[in-house]
Amino acid sequence: MTNYKIAVIPGDGIGHEIVPAGLEVLLAAGKKYGYSLDTENFSYGAGYYLKHGKFMPEDGLEKLKAFDAVFFGSVGLPGVDDTLPAKDYTFKVRTSFQQYVNYRPVRVYPGVTSPLRSTTPFDFVVVRENTEGEFVQIGNQYLPDEENGMGVDTSIFTRKGIERIAHYAFQLARKRRKKVTHVTKSNTLINSLSYWDRVIKEVAAQYPDVAHDQMYIDNASASFVLKPEVFDVVLTTNLFGDILSDLGGAIMGSLGLGGAGNINPEKDFPSMFEPIHGSAPDIAGQNIANPLGQIWSGVLMLEHLGEHEAAAGIMAAVDRTTTGGVLSADLGGTAKTDEIAQAVIANL
Ligand code: NAI
Ligand code: MG
Repeated sequence: MTNYKIAVIPGDGIGHEIVPAGLEVLLAAGKKYGYSLDTENFSYGAGYYLKHGKFMPEDGLEKLKAFDAVFFGSVGLPGVDDTLPAKDYTFKVRTSFQQYVNYRPVRVYPGVTSPLRSTTPFDFVVVRENTEGEFVQIGNQYLPDEENGMGVDTSIFTRKGIERIAHYAFQLARKRRKKVTHVTKSNTLINSLSYWDRVIKEVAAQYPDVAHDQMYIDNASASFVLKPEVFDVVLTTNLFGDILSDLGGAIMGSLGLGGAGNINPEKDFPSMFEPIHGSAPDIAGQNIANPLGQIWSGVLMLEHLGEHEAAAGIMAAVDRTTTGGVLSADLGGTAKTDEIAQAVIANL
């Protein structure tokens, strides 16, 4: 029986409900599929910040390095400076651990009504560059209180950064329907995103068996709503991918349905698996959050660890659960967070 060391970080808000729910499913699947999880809980997040003045201890990253993966909820609380969760936790982990792939799949859940009128099924993956681009947080505010005040954020796109995410996307497409759509805005961001296009085209030439097209972010947003079935692998930047993946959640029916992985493909560092959404303070503490995005994140973690049979088994159990009408409030149902996890376990 393979044993995996998993760092569990609920974070804040609904993380305290959906992470335990997701973990229960992973542990139950382990019994069936023959793996075990050796878990350790870490209280990092905005709650930790309120007590200690930082989102994680000085040796926080060092501690996480010893694990095979991190199973994470999300961070952020009302009343805590909301520039801190990303800067002091999420981006820190993603960049320090070279988790340069943000893998965010989008598909139709059986039994869940998409807000889209079209019933044509869609199944694609948003591959978001996760360590550079618009989110490098290099910039400044000058004379913010003055009449001539200004704020500047710089985007950084490096050849190395673009090449590695592009190779990942094309290799992923080879295992899927062999199509990469790269999302850009090079008609107006004529330096950074023209370079993005140029390097992606160089990489694309190395994959003649994979179809490749380019779409502007404005058109891509509209196309997610009007014809999502045209996409297979959507390769995009850090900011665009952040926005497009919430839209991906929305067309599935809820943000609470989206699973994600922050992946270091080389496995030099642990990868971190978290749903696409945030800590949802508006519904926290009520046992009504949808745990399926968290459970899907766990499935992606199992795939990363090589437990493919278990991953497929859990997704099939999730499908049986939604088909059976066990749905949370965001999907118009009445099932509670823990009841949904129990239903998935029963359906395993
Ligand atoms: P959010 O994603 O937390 O919530 C947006 C809306 O979606 C809310 O109405 C919420 O109730 C709903 N929602 C989200 N997840 C749900 C679920 N599992 N089930 C049912 N409904 C769900 O985004 P928001 O409100 O912009 O941010 C809240 C906090 O989360 C902020 O502090 C923000 O910084 C943080 N955040 C953290 C992230 C991370 O840790 N990676 C990512 C995004 C936001
Ligand atoms: Mg986001």
